[in-house]
Amino acid sequence: MNNLHIELKKNLYYLGVNDRDTPRFENLWPLEYGVAYNSYLILDKYTCLVDTVRINKAEGFTGSFSDLIGNRNLDYMILQHVEPDHAGAVSMIMEKYPDVTVVGNKQTKRLLKTFYDIEPKKFLEVKEGDVLDLGERKLKFFLTSMVHWPESMVCFEENEGILFSQDIFGSFGTVDGSVFDDEMEYKRIKSEIRRYYSNIIGHHNKQTARILDKLSKLDIKMICPVHGIVWRTYIDTIVDAYTSWAKMKLEKGVVLVYGSMYGMTEAICDIFARFLVENGVTTVKIFDASKTHPSYIINQIFKYNGLVVASTTYNQHVLPCLSGMLNILRDYTFDNHIYGHFAEYGWSSTTNKELKEFGENIKAKIIESDINIHGKLREEDMEKLKKLAKDMAKAIGV
Ligand code: FEO
Repeated sequence: MNNLHIELKKNLYYLGVNDRDTPRFENLWPLEYGVAYNSYLILDKYTCLVDTVRINKAEGFTGSFSDLIGNRNLDYMILQHVEPDHAGAVSMIMEKYPDVTVVGNKQTKRLLKTFYDIEPKKFLEVKEGDVLDLGERKLKFFLTSMVHWPESMVCFEENEGILFSQDIFGSFGTVDGSVFDDEMEYKRIKSEIRRYYSNIIGHHNKQTARILDKLSKLDIKMICPVHGIVWRTYIDTIVDAYTSWAKMKLEKGVVLVYGSMYGMTEAICDIFARFLVENGVTTVKIFDASKTHPSYIINQIFKYNGLVVASTTYNQHVLPCLSGMLNILRDYTFDNHIYGHFAEYGWSSTTNKELKEFGENIKAKIIESDINIHGKLREEDMEKLKKLAKDMAKAIGV
């Protein structure tokens, strides 16, 4: 028997699988340390599977599942989130257990049909506060729409305080033997948790903050997410981290992202960074958007309260590698951020306007500066850069 399954509590099993093959999550975000897809099995009076895994890892998952359920029937399959990384094995389960009752909400039913053409023979539609009685364990449902998809929901076992949280409180990174939070060092994975949050969940920050407020009223003793480790000892750590990111409680510092063709804009950024430091900013993180994937830059934007974007002009616009990141972020809300920008151009002066519009889209507090450098950096530009650095330092609170 090669399949990994761990009993988290009596008759509650972790059925997680590691994916070290897929290079990018959603074919967008680099998976430097892989990712885990978690599923959970409850063997009670009624048997119940909570979420499944991505299709590329379904074999290992169904192996573990078969080992555990043995000859029993599967009574319920709860689908808390039907993105393919969790619904990949749904068809396989339904083929083997055609009479299983699929549990979801109104949106789940719609999306199952839309994406997978699945219409379960038995579907139990749940609403906020509904309870599924499995025997010893009773699961109460809470809708978490748009965190991460419209149909997303979580369920909570009240007697033992177990929250099955789907994407919420998840992380990038595989589960390397340490399934529980107290079996590893949090600081080793903190950045990957924030990168997951900022890349996947952070798009809907305001809604996430509302949902976290709702969940914070529960007496949580264990968190079972669909990615990453299971939390049982450091519940406050992960809840506080998620809450602070959702509410954008930021550290003082400036992320400076640039797009540069021949190094001129880059050189200006180095000068500007020095001005920031001379004004007391001790944390300046500079990124070349042509080299560093947006995933890692966005991770830093979720950490610091200052953001400066600078670009050369390429065919009248922001350099494409940089505009790719700006496109990803255009619907995010960064209303706690202080934003500055400047551009450099040869014969078309429109880029700086695009950078300002980006700041408006993300609802950041924009420092007015009007720094549009025509070719070589001149004395009047230098003075404007100094002023922007001074204003930025003051605005971020150093
Ligand atoms: Fe892990 Fe939103 O899927």
